[in-house]
Amino acid sequence: MEKQGEVIFKVFRYDPSRDREGRFQTYKVPLVKGLTVLDALIYIKENLDPTLSMRYSCRMASCGSCGMTINGLPRLACYTQVRELNSKVVVVEPLANFPKLRDLATDFDGFFAKHRAMKPYLIRQDREEQENPRDQYRQSDEELLQYLQFAYCIKCGLCYAACPVAATDKEFPGPQALAQLYRYYADSRDQAEGERLEIVDNSHGIWRCHFAASCSYVCPKGVDPALAIQLLRKALLFGGKR
Ligand code: SF4
Ligand code: FES
Repeated sequence: MEKQGEVIFKVFRYDPSRDREGRFQTYKVPLVKGLTVLDALIYIKENLDPTLSMRYSCRMASCGSCGMTINGLPRLACYTQVRELNSKVVVVEPLANFPKLRDLATDFDGFFAKHRAMKPYLIRQDREEQENPRDQYRQSDEELLQYLQFAYCIKCGLCYAACPVAATDKEFPGPQALAQLYRYYADSRDQAEGERLEIVDNSHGIWRCHFAASCSYVCPKGVDPALAIQLLRKALLFGGKR
């Protein structure tokens, strides 16, 4: 592919067995049409420095594993075109608000534990039907639309990295978990209701958000966690599914 100049990449490096703090290392990457930040990091790993660590899989904004801070904002590396950054220097760092593992890879264990704490599955009272299913749980288009956008979450953690409350309160579930709690709460097939809302009705939960809305700004899938949080507050104050 025709080379169209060069881009400087300043990449955060951190080896916990050697470094107390991280440092930046600079690499020159040939700019070609369609180059993504992930392509550039793979180029560095394959041609300049095989010790570089990062996490990725699908390369198509589906798996949620390549989240990192790119020129100051949480973004998916595979979804970020270098040309669209309009910058001769691209600075790549691990996601904020996550423990650092090595270089650009961060630890998602705490993030997934918060997600699991929201009971992200349908809870039903009809045990007999659960054990011996005889019919489908039908939904109208309108019922589906109550939660559909929240179901598009790929658990990339960008919203969590952008959240100023998650940065200061380690007990705060974070926008991803709260949006998933709303996704199941708003599902007409779910019968947990009070049990689900109770999980976040406390000072470190839903009331801790101060509506910076940075979560919704950075989400690559069009999910609006800030809206989910407001709708959960409405449900807690006034009841009802909507
Ligand atoms: S809500 Fe958006 S930014 Fe947050 S984890 Fe889900 S897909 Fe990623
Ligand atoms: S590699 Fe899967 S979302 Fe980027």
